[in-house]
Amino acid sequence: MDNLLELHDGIERSTERIKKNGEVFTPAPIVELMCNICPEEDWADPDKIFLDPTCGNGQILCTILKKRLAAGVSKKDAISTLFGIELMQDNVDLCRQRLAQILETDLYNNIIKENIVCSSIFDWDIENWQPRKDKIKFKHKQSSLGGTKKIF
Ligand SMILES: C[S@@+](CC[C@H](N)C(=O)[O-])C[C@H]1O[C@@H](n2cnc3c(N)ncnc32)[C@H](O)[C@@H]1O
Repeated sequence: MDNLLELHDGIERSTERIKKNGEVFTPAPIVELMCNICPEEDWADPDKIFLDPTCGNGQILCTILKKRLAAGVSKKDAISTLFGIELMQDNVDLCRQRLAQILETDLYNNIIKENIVCSSIFDWDIENWQPRKDKIKFKHKQSSLGGTKKIF
């Protein structure tokens, strides 16, 4: 299933949508390499918190969850310390589904729903894990490449 996901995860994405949102997901071997940077003892620490602020279909979060479980962290602790934010609802749904599949139970679906949220990172208050009350305002600046870019 996960190998097939590398080729196509079942969500139809137009070229325009991929370009607009930057929906290019990290291949599993690259995620593994990234995870190798993390100190070995962190995987087994039930209190460590992991966040992917633009989690897509869950490529990074799924690997983290597997590594946490393999290190002996309980399913409940592993999923309670895993957080993701993603703009597109279909990616969020797939990410939640993949995490539940790894846990091989629906028991923690409420935690998954609370921890993997559909929002723009700019509209989400990470510290209090809720929508931001004060929206970040952007100014748009003409970029030298012809488009516009957001600046704070
Ligand atoms: C380059 S992909 C990376 C996904 C995942 N982290 C990975 O490495 O496979 C970026 C993801 O960020 C989402 N995204 C784009 N703008 C966002 C925003 N402002 N807030 C949250 N997610 C956003 C896109 O929909 C896309 O799924």
